[in-house]
Amino acid sequence: MIPGQINVIFGWAWMCVGLILGLILGLRAERDQWLGGYDSLTRRYLRLGHIAFIALSIINILYGKELGSTDIPPYVITAGSPLLIFGAAGVPVTCVIAAFFRKAKYFLPLPAISLLVGIGILVIGFMT
Ligand code: HEM
Repeated sequence: MIPGQINVIFGWAWMCVGLILGLILGLRAERDQWLGGYDSLTRRYLRLGHIAFIALSIINILYGKELGSTDIPPYVITAGSPLLIFGAAGVPVTCVIAAFFRKAKYFLPLPAISLLVGIGILVIGFMT
């Protein structure tokens, strides 16, 4: 497999989950009082999850394509690729869980930092 291809495949597949979540939200979105209303924390976490599924999938696709280029140091490929997948999986899934079990939000920094480190080492890799 070409380096980064796993991020590209994961990204396209994971995006489908975000679109499915959007379709589910769309079934009741116009109901003012659904899950406590549009401004409720539950609806906000679900919307954040929906957007995070899609946006972090796009970031994985972009990241995966960068790893395919020849001048990326091997440590970025071995560490960055799984960090990006863990982050993109962890943020939206945690948002959906936190919509119903608030304490799940305390897990959010872990996948978020994973994304930050993964992207950070890519930037360092570009500069070295
Ligand atoms: C199958 C495709 C999609 C469907 C059915 C869908 C459906 C929805 C629904 C129903 C909401 C409102 C949820 C609520 O009322 O709480 C929403 C919000 C949102 N969606 Fe999607 N969506 C889709 C694709 C996308 C894509 C591709 C993006 C961005 C790349 C996106 C970004 C957003 C954003 C930013 C919000 C929040 C809007 C706001 O708070 O005003 N959605 N989506």
